[in-house]
Amino acid sequence: MNDLYDKAKQVLPHSYAKYSQFKVAAAIRLIDGSIITGVNVENASFGLTNCAERTALFTAYTQGYRKEDITEMVITTEKDYLISPCGACRQVMSELMTPETPVHMITSDGKVTTVQNKELLPLAFQESDL
Ligand code: THU
Repeated sequence: MNDLYDKAKQVLPHSYAKYSQFKVAAAIRLIDGSIITGVNVENASFGLTNCAERTALFTAYTQGYRKEDITEMVITTEKDYLISPCGACRQVMSELMTPETPVHMITSDGKVTTVQNKELLPLAFQESDL
């Protein structure tokens, strides 16, 4: 997980957090060994902001990966306390990663909190509900 954390920290300065100054980075590992990163990208029309987790997942899907290919996700910020994914990201993560995929939330000083994806959004609205 350390290499994934290192990659997330590498891209954290690329976060476009012009309005909140709250930089977030995510990194996901694929079964072929590659790593895809994402940062939050804000907009003057605030609601159009894209979170780091969704940036990383949408990039992975753009490259042709699917949920079975994602083995773990790291999320990090500049804060030394736990930051967990927002509600919109939890909904997207529930569909785009398997329920068992580990999600590691890592503080700026390296404290790790790990949960399974399914723990983040119990009773998620899902494809089978349609
Ligand atoms: N943000 C993320 O990128 N991921 C999260 O899980 C929480 C929030 C971003 C959105 C916005 O750019 C900034 O953090 C403050 O809400």
